[in-house]
Amino acid sequence: MHDSTAAPERVRTRFEERAQQFDDLYEDERWLVRTLRPGLFRRRQLAVETVQAYPSPSVLDVGCGSGRIGEFVLSEGGAARYVGVDFSEPMVELSRARLERFADRTQLLVDDFLTAPLIGSFDVILALGLFDYLPDADRFSRRMFELCAPGGCVVGSFPSWSWLKGPVRKVRYEWIGNCPIFNYSRRELEELFGTSGFDRVEVTSPGRSGFLVRAYRT
Ligand SMILES: C[S@@+](CC[C@H](N)C(=O)[O-])C[C@H]1O[C@@H](n2cnc3c(N)ncnc32)[C@H](O)[C@@H]1O
Repeated sequence: MHDSTAAPERVRTRFEERAQQFDDLYEDERWLVRTLRPGLFRRRQLAVETVQAYPSPSVLDVGCGSGRIGEFVLSEGGAARYVGVDFSEPMVELSRARLERFADRTQLLVDDFLTAPLIGSFDVILALGLFDYLPDADRFSRRMFELCAPGGCVVGSFPSWSWLKGPVRKVRYEWIGNCPIFNYSRRELEELFGTSGFDRVEVTSPGRSGFLVRAYRT
């Protein structure tokens, strides 16, 4: 049966119900898990490296989830200010517990990124595991541009269609999980960030099922 609930509501429900389950994916860093889910660790690595390249960076983490990336960005990346926003309250609760020791540099908001009262500009904006669930990606990339400091950048991860994983993901997320998912091509990503105002867009494809993007505002 067709579900008329709006896509963002279905995404929010998914991440409210499965916050702990998502968080647990990071728990097991054994080689088998890393082999099955290399994207999770690759995107964290890129986030930390990017943040490290700025002196005293301010970081906005859009769809911060349970704070697994935030923890590394604050401890190893040296973020001077970290703002995490996520519309799933249980996710933000997990973040709050995980990032407690960085409380003096951290602010966490339970809100939709498109309407959240975010003030100032950020050197690095993280969007990891977020665009998978967005039917209106251009609204997000445009708001990211507005919030990006001159010289700053967005770091994002994006799934691409693969005949190996694509059909299984479709069934798991959309049919069983009632959660919309979206795929991207290299050209769509260059256009998405280019038309949002970013001057330089780096797209890499380290795995076979997705892209990592760094989009710079000069
Ligand atoms: C797959 S999780 C990724 C979490 C984290 N970035 C990571 O990589 O570990 C995606 C998160 O995006 C959040 N999200 C999706 N759409 C959002 C929106 N419009 N505003 C705020 N958060 C959103 C979800 O609630 C979820 O916690």
